[in-house]
Amino acid sequence: MLKRKDLLGLIDASASEITEILDLAEEFKNRIKKGEKKMSYLEGKTATILFYENSTRTRTSFEEAAKYLGATTINIVAGNSSVAKGETLVDTGKTLDAQRNDFIVMRHPIGGAPYLLAKTVQASVLNAGDGMNEHPTQALLDMLTMREVFGSLKGLKVAILGDIKHSRVAKSNLFGLKTMGAEVTMYAPETLIPKGIDQLGAKLCKTRQEALDGADVVMGLRIQLERQQAGAFPSLGEYAANYGVDKRILEYAKPNAIVLHPGPVNRGVELTSDVIDHERSHIEDQVLSGVAVRMAALTLLNEARKA
Ligand code: NCD
Repeated sequence: MLKRKDLLGLIDASASEITEILDLAEEFKNRIKKGEKKMSYLEGKTATILFYENSTRTRTSFEEAAKYLGATTINIVAGNSSVAKGETLVDTGKTLDAQRNDFIVMRHPIGGAPYLLAKTVQASVLNAGDGMNEHPTQALLDMLTMREVFGSLKGLKVAILGDIKHSRVAKSNLFGLKTMGAEVTMYAPETLIPKGIDQLGAKLCKTRQEALDGADVVMGLRIQLERQQAGAFPSLGEYAANYGVDKRILEYAKPNAIVLHPGPVNRGVELTSDVIDHERSHIEDQVLSGVAVRMAALTLLNEARKA
Protein backbone atom coordinates (compact mmCIF):
# COMPACT_ATOMS: atom_id res chain seq x y z
CA MET A 1 0.00 0.00 0.00
CA LEU A 2 1.31 3.42 -0.97
CA LYS A 3 1.82 5.29 2.29
CA ARG A 4 2.53 8.83 1.18
CA LYS A 5 0.65 12.07 1.26
CA ASP A 6 2.39 13.36 -1.89
CA LEU A 7 4.09 12.12 -5.03
CA LEU A 8 7.02 14.47 -5.52
CA GLY A 9 9.77 12.34 -7.02
CA LEU A 10 11.03 8.83 -7.62
CA ILE A 11 14.32 9.41 -5.78
CA ASP A 12 12.83 7.79 -2.68
CA ALA A 13 10.26 5.48 -4.32
CA SER A 14 10.68 1.78 -3.57
CA ALA A 15 10.35 -1.01 -6.12
CA SER A 16 7.12 -2.14 -4.46
CA GLU A 17 5.62 1.37 -4.62
CA ILE A 18 6.52 1.68 -8.31
CA THR A 19 5.13 -1.78 -9.02
CA GLU A 20 1.89 -0.97 -7.21
CA ILE A 21 1.37 2.18 -9.31
CA LEU A 22 2.26 0.39 -12.57
CA ASP A 23 -0.03 -2.57 -11.82
CA LEU A 24 -3.01 -0.32 -11.19
CA ALA A 25 -2.11 1.87 -14.19
CA GLU A 26 -2.08 -1.22 -16.42
CA GLU A 27 -5.58 -2.08 -15.23
CA PHE A 28 -6.80 1.50 -15.86
CA LYS A 29 -5.20 1.55 -19.30
CA ASN A 30 -7.08 -1.61 -20.28
CA ARG A 31 -10.34 -0.15 -18.97
CA ILE A 32 -9.85 3.10 -20.92
CA LYS A 33 -9.07 1.10 -24.06
CA LYS A 34 -12.43 -0.65 -23.63
CA GLY A 35 -14.07 2.78 -23.50
CA GLU A 36 -14.58 2.92 -19.73
CA LYS A 37 -14.06 6.54 -18.75
CA LYS A 38 -16.48 7.02 -15.92
CA MET A 39 -15.32 5.66 -12.58
CA SER A 40 -16.09 6.72 -9.05
CA TYR A 41 -12.82 6.27 -7.13
CA LEU A 42 -12.51 10.05 -6.62
CA GLU A 43 -16.17 10.99 -6.44
CA GLY A 44 -16.64 14.04 -4.21
CA LYS A 45 -12.95 14.97 -4.44
CA THR A 46 -11.41 18.10 -5.93
CA ALA A 47 -8.18 18.22 -7.89
CA THR A 48 -6.62 21.58 -8.71
CA ILE A 49 -4.19 21.70 -11.57
CA LEU A 50 -1.74 24.53 -10.94
CA PHE A 51 0.71 25.09 -13.77
CA TYR A 52 3.39 27.78 -13.75
CA GLU A 53 4.91 26.45 -16.98
CA ASN A 54 3.62 25.45 -20.40
CA SER A 55 2.27 21.98 -21.05
CA THR A 56 -0.01 20.06 -23.38
CA ARG A 57 0.24 16.38 -22.54
CA THR A 58 0.87 16.47 -18.82
CA ARG A 59 -1.82 19.02 -18.06
CA THR A 60 -4.54 17.42 -20.19
CA SER A 61 -3.73 13.91 -19.04
CA PHE A 62 -3.88 14.87 -15.35
CA GLU A 63 -7.21 16.55 -16.02
CA GLU A 64 -8.54 13.55 -17.93
CA ALA A 65 -7.27 11.21 -15.22
CA ALA A 66 -9.01 13.13 -12.44
CA LYS A 67 -12.23 13.42 -14.48
CA TYR A 68 -12.32 9.72 -15.45
CA LEU A 69 -12.07 8.97 -11.71
CA GLY A 70 -15.05 11.20 -10.95
CA ALA A 71 -13.24 14.17 -9.33
CA THR A 72 -14.05 17.82 -9.86
CA THR A 73 -11.13 19.55 -11.55
CA ILE A 74 -10.04 23.16 -11.38
CA ASN A 75 -7.43 24.60 -13.70
CA ILE A 76 -5.22 27.47 -12.63
CA VAL A 77 -2.92 29.04 -15.18
CA ALA A 78 -0.35 31.05 -13.22
CA GLY A 79 -0.43 33.98 -15.64
CA ASN A 80 -4.20 34.43 -15.10
CA SER A 81 -4.26 34.03 -11.32
CA SER A 82 -3.23 36.01 -8.26
CA VAL A 83 0.26 34.57 -8.77
CA ALA A 84 0.59 37.26 -11.43
CA LYS A 85 -0.25 39.80 -8.69
CA GLY A 86 2.69 38.58 -6.60
CA GLU A 87 1.00 36.02 -4.35
CA THR A 88 3.53 33.61 -2.85
CA LEU A 89 3.36 29.90 -3.44
CA VAL A 90 2.63 29.25 0.22
CA ASP A 91 -0.27 31.74 0.20
CA THR A 92 -1.66 30.21 -3.00
CA GLY A 93 -1.46 26.83 -1.25
CA LYS A 94 -3.29 28.18 1.81
CA THR A 95 -6.11 29.44 -0.42
CA LEU A 96 -6.40 26.07 -2.15
CA ASP A 97 -6.44 24.32 1.24
CA ALA A 98 -9.13 26.66 2.53
CA GLN A 99 -11.24 25.61 -0.47
CA ARG A 100 -10.85 21.99 0.74
CA ASN A 101 -8.88 20.80 -2.26
CA ASP A 102 -7.90 17.17 -2.01
CA PHE A 103 -5.17 17.19 -4.67
CA ILE A 104 -2.89 19.82 -6.11
CA VAL A 105 -1.09 18.88 -9.31
CA MET A 106 1.73 21.35 -9.77
CA ARG A 107 4.28 22.20 -12.44
CA HIS A 108 6.81 24.89 -11.58
CA PRO A 109 10.01 26.22 -13.20
CA ILE A 110 11.91 26.06 -9.90
CA GLY A 111 13.20 22.70 -8.67
CA GLY A 112 11.86 21.96 -5.19
CA ALA A 113 8.77 24.20 -5.43
CA PRO A 114 6.30 21.28 -5.04
CA TYR A 115 8.23 20.11 -1.96
CA LEU A 116 7.67 23.51 -0.32
CA LEU A 117 3.99 23.47 -1.26
CA ALA A 118 3.54 19.88 0.00
CA LYS A 119 4.95 20.86 3.41
CA THR A 120 2.49 23.68 3.85
CA VAL A 121 -0.80 22.23 2.56
CA GLN A 122 -3.06 19.43 3.69
CA ALA A 123 -3.89 18.48 0.10
CA SER A 124 -1.86 15.75 -1.60
CA VAL A 125 0.63 17.33 -3.99
CA LEU A 126 1.60 15.63 -7.25
CA ASN A 127 4.70 16.98 -8.94
CA ALA A 128 4.02 17.45 -12.65
CA GLY A 129 7.58 18.66 -13.28
CA ASP A 130 9.71 20.99 -11.13
CA GLY A 131 12.45 22.82 -13.01
CA MET A 132 15.32 20.50 -13.80
CA ASN A 133 14.60 18.24 -10.83
CA GLU A 134 11.94 15.52 -11.25
CA HIS A 135 8.86 14.55 -13.25
CA PRO A 136 7.78 11.34 -11.53
CA THR A 137 4.58 10.57 -13.44
CA GLN A 138 6.41 10.95 -16.78
CA ALA A 139 8.98 8.34 -15.72
CA LEU A 140 6.19 6.09 -14.45
CA LEU A 141 4.38 6.30 -17.79
CA ASP A 142 7.64 5.57 -19.59
CA MET A 143 8.16 2.54 -17.35
CA LEU A 144 4.57 1.38 -17.92
CA THR A 145 5.12 1.55 -21.69
CA MET A 146 8.39 -0.41 -21.39
CA ARG A 147 6.89 -3.01 -19.06
CA GLU A 148 3.96 -3.60 -21.41
CA VAL A 149 6.33 -4.34 -24.29
CA PHE A 150 8.99 -6.33 -22.46
CA GLY A 151 7.04 -7.82 -19.54
CA SER A 152 9.52 -6.64 -16.91
CA LEU A 153 11.89 -3.75 -16.28
CA LYS A 154 14.55 -5.89 -14.66
CA GLY A 155 17.65 -6.18 -16.84
CA LEU A 156 16.36 -3.81 -19.55
CA LYS A 157 18.93 -1.55 -21.14
CA VAL A 158 17.60 1.97 -21.60
CA ALA A 159 19.60 4.51 -23.62
CA ILE A 160 18.74 8.16 -22.92
CA LEU A 161 19.96 10.74 -25.43
CA GLY A 162 19.40 14.47 -25.61
CA ASP A 163 19.32 17.39 -23.21
CA ILE A 164 19.91 15.40 -20.03
CA LYS A 165 21.18 18.36 -18.04
CA HIS A 166 17.92 20.28 -18.19
CA SER A 167 15.70 17.21 -18.10
CA ARG A 168 13.61 16.29 -15.10
CA VAL A 169 12.39 13.33 -17.19
CA ALA A 170 15.92 11.88 -17.38
CA LYS A 171 16.40 12.17 -13.62
CA SER A 172 13.10 10.58 -12.65
CA ASN A 173 13.67 7.78 -15.16
CA LEU A 174 17.17 7.16 -13.84
CA PHE A 175 15.91 6.87 -10.25
CA GLY A 176 12.93 4.69 -11.15
CA LEU A 177 14.69 2.45 -13.65
CA LYS A 178 17.69 1.79 -11.38
CA THR A 179 15.33 0.90 -8.53
CA MET A 180 13.54 -1.53 -10.84
CA GLY A 181 16.79 -3.23 -11.90
CA ALA A 182 17.26 -1.70 -15.36
CA GLU A 183 20.49 -0.35 -16.77
CA VAL A 184 20.63 3.27 -17.96
CA THR A 185 23.14 4.58 -20.49
CA MET A 186 23.32 8.25 -21.46
CA TYR A 187 24.80 10.21 -24.32
CA ALA A 188 24.82 13.97 -24.99
CA PRO A 189 27.28 16.79 -25.59
CA GLU A 190 29.48 17.30 -22.50
CA THR A 191 27.68 20.60 -21.89
CA LEU A 192 24.32 18.80 -21.58
CA ILE A 193 25.42 16.16 -19.06
CA PRO A 194 24.78 17.18 -15.45
CA LYS A 195 27.73 16.78 -13.09
CA GLY A 196 27.50 13.71 -10.89
CA ILE A 197 24.79 11.89 -12.90
CA ASP A 198 27.14 8.89 -13.20
CA GLN A 199 27.32 8.72 -9.41
CA LEU A 200 23.53 8.34 -9.45
CA GLY A 201 23.91 5.20 -11.53
CA ALA A 202 23.94 6.32 -15.17
CA LYS A 203 26.57 4.90 -17.49
CA LEU A 204 27.96 7.80 -19.52
CA CYS A 205 28.93 6.86 -23.07
CA LYS A 206 31.43 8.39 -25.45
CA THR A 207 29.47 7.76 -28.66
CA ARG A 208 25.86 7.27 -29.80
CA GLN A 209 26.81 3.78 -30.91
CA GLU A 210 28.12 2.87 -27.46
CA ALA A 211 24.96 4.20 -25.77
CA LEU A 212 22.65 2.32 -28.13
CA ASP A 213 24.64 -0.89 -28.31
CA GLY A 214 22.24 -3.67 -27.28
CA ALA A 215 19.63 -1.20 -26.00
CA ASP A 216 16.03 -2.35 -25.53
CA VAL A 217 14.76 1.22 -25.25
CA VAL A 218 15.97 4.36 -26.99
CA MET A 219 14.66 7.50 -25.30
CA GLY A 220 15.12 10.88 -26.97
CA LEU A 221 14.85 14.07 -24.95
CA ARG A 222 13.95 17.53 -26.16
CA ILE A 223 16.63 20.18 -26.39
CA GLN A 224 15.28 22.64 -23.82
CA LEU A 225 16.34 25.93 -25.38
CA GLU A 226 14.19 27.83 -22.85
CA ARG A 227 16.48 26.65 -20.01
CA GLN A 228 19.78 27.37 -21.75
CA GLN A 229 21.14 30.88 -21.29
CA ALA A 230 24.13 30.43 -23.58
CA GLY A 231 24.09 27.85 -26.35
CA ALA A 232 25.38 24.45 -25.25
CA PHE A 233 26.28 23.45 -28.82
CA PRO A 234 26.94 25.38 -32.04
CA SER A 235 23.66 24.85 -33.94
CA LEU A 236 20.60 22.60 -34.04
CA GLY A 237 21.77 21.18 -37.38
CA GLU A 238 25.12 20.18 -35.91
CA TYR A 239 23.39 18.77 -32.84
CA ALA A 240 21.15 16.58 -35.04
CA ALA A 241 24.07 15.36 -37.14
CA ASN A 242 26.29 14.46 -34.18
CA TYR A 243 23.96 13.64 -31.30
CA GLY A 244 20.53 12.92 -32.78
CA VAL A 245 19.06 9.51 -33.59
CA ASP A 246 18.22 8.62 -37.17
CA LYS A 247 17.29 5.24 -38.68
CA ARG A 248 20.94 4.34 -39.24
CA ILE A 249 21.91 5.03 -35.61
CA LEU A 250 18.82 3.17 -34.38
CA GLU A 251 20.27 0.01 -35.96
CA TYR A 252 22.81 -0.17 -33.10
CA ALA A 253 19.99 -0.94 -30.67
CA LYS A 254 18.45 -4.43 -30.42
CA PRO A 255 16.26 -5.37 -33.42
CA ASN A 256 13.12 -5.25 -31.23
CA ALA A 257 14.12 -2.05 -29.41
CA ILE A 258 11.44 0.58 -28.90
CA VAL A 259 11.70 4.36 -29.26
CA LEU A 260 10.29 6.71 -26.63
CA HIS A 261 10.18 10.50 -26.22
CA PRO A 262 8.23 12.43 -23.56
CA GLY A 263 7.23 15.10 -26.08
CA PRO A 264 7.10 17.72 -27.30
CA VAL A 265 9.54 16.54 -29.98
CA ASN A 266 11.73 18.87 -32.04
CA ARG A 267 11.30 16.91 -35.27
CA GLY A 268 14.64 16.39 -36.97
CA VAL A 269 16.71 17.50 -33.96
CA GLU A 270 16.79 14.81 -31.26
CA LEU A 271 15.01 12.24 -33.46
CA THR A 272 14.49 12.27 -37.21
CA SER A 273 10.91 12.07 -38.51
CA ASP A 274 11.39 8.50 -39.75
CA VAL A 275 12.40 7.44 -36.22
CA ILE A 276 9.49 9.31 -34.60
CA ASP A 277 7.03 7.63 -36.99
CA HIS A 278 8.86 4.27 -37.00
CA GLU A 279 6.86 1.11 -36.31
CA ARG A 280 9.02 0.68 -33.20
CA SER A 281 8.14 4.14 -31.92
CA HIS A 282 5.76 4.08 -28.93
CA ILE A 283 5.60 7.86 -28.59
CA GLU A 284 1.84 8.04 -29.21
CA ASP A 285 1.10 5.13 -26.91
CA GLN A 286 3.03 6.90 -24.15
CA VAL A 287 0.24 9.47 -24.02
CA LEU A 288 -2.41 6.92 -23.02
CA SER A 289 0.01 5.40 -20.52
CA GLY A 290 0.21 8.92 -19.09
CA VAL A 291 -3.51 9.12 -18.38
CA ALA A 292 -3.49 5.63 -16.82
CA VAL A 293 -0.45 6.28 -14.60
CA ARG A 294 -1.92 9.55 -13.35
CA MET A 295 -5.21 7.79 -12.56
CA ALA A 296 -3.27 5.19 -10.59
CA ALA A 297 -1.25 7.79 -8.68
CA LEU A 298 -4.36 9.79 -7.76
CA THR A 299 -6.27 6.66 -6.69
CA LEU A 300 -3.45 5.32 -4.53
CA LEU A 301 -2.76 8.69 -2.89
CA ASN A 302 -6.47 8.96 -2.16
CA GLU A 303 -6.43 5.55 -0.48
CA ALA A 304 -3.36 6.60 1.52
CA ARG A 305 -5.26 9.70 2.69
CA LYS A 306 -8.12 7.52 3.98
CA ALA A 307 -5.80 5.08 5.78
C1 NCD B 1 8.64 17.08 -20.53
C2 NCD B 1 8.67 18.12 -19.44
O1 NCD B 1 7.86 19.03 -19.39
O2 NCD B 1 9.54 17.98 -18.61
N1 NCD B 1 7.46 17.01 -21.27
C3 NCD B 1 6.34 16.42 -20.77
O3 NCD B 1 6.02 16.48 -19.61
N2 NCD B 1 5.60 15.71 -21.65
C4 NCD B 1 9.82 17.20 -21.42
C5 NCD B 1 10.00 18.46 -22.22
O4 NCD B 1 9.36 19.48 -22.00
O5 NCD B 1 10.84 18.41 -23.11
